[in-house]
Amino acid sequence: MSENISVLISEEKIKNRISEIAMQLNEKYKGKKVTVICTLKGAFIFAADLVRQLETDVRMEFLSASSYRGTESTGTLVMKQSIDQPITGENVIVVEDILDTGRTLKHLKEYFTKQEPKSLLLVTLLDKPDRRVADIQCDVVGFTIPDKFVVGYGLDYDQQYRNLPYIGVLDVQEVK
Ligand code: XMP
Ligand code: MG
Repeated sequence: MSENISVLISEEKIKNRISEIAMQLNEKYKGKKVTVICTLKGAFIFAADLVRQLETDVRMEFLSASSYRGTESTGTLVMKQSIDQPITGENVIVVEDILDTGRTLKHLKEYFTKQEPKSLLLVTLLDKPDRRVADIQCDVVGFTIPDKFVVGYGLDYDQQYRNLPYIGVLDVQEVK
């Protein structure tokens, strides 16, 4: 097998969009403390670029979770690593890489809501609405993309390509 990657969203476009999102968040949270929860591994670059443009006090948390389909249509949440400080009474911003079926984020939203934060904002860099199964919307979406498997800027294929500075579409071809 060999893999070809074509650029879907350039480094420059990502940079510009992140500045826009940061402006929006700086306006919303002016003078307030926020806790940013970065979902691992995919959101690590997006979160790092975004928080460096936030002008308010930021506390960082990291979490690793995925959703597995069980008997229910939305499956269950498997938490590999959770946050280590409670978020009760805090302004929380969840930073995701990609909203696909929506199962993961729907579970995460319920998980965080139970901890009674003061506010909860869901931010995703990418949204693939064509694949949505769970009833969930993000408050902030970087880019809406077609139903293609994407890599780069934190996103992987078999743990590869996370370091690409752009978002690309992976085209796996069979070698003849
Ligand atoms: P949900 O629960 O919304 O899961 O289906 C979203 C998670 O699925 C992974 N995912 C992708 N990862 N390229 C990737 O590298 C993709 O195109 C893609 N689509 C979904 C990702 O881990 C995300 O957090
Ligand atoms: Mg992910």
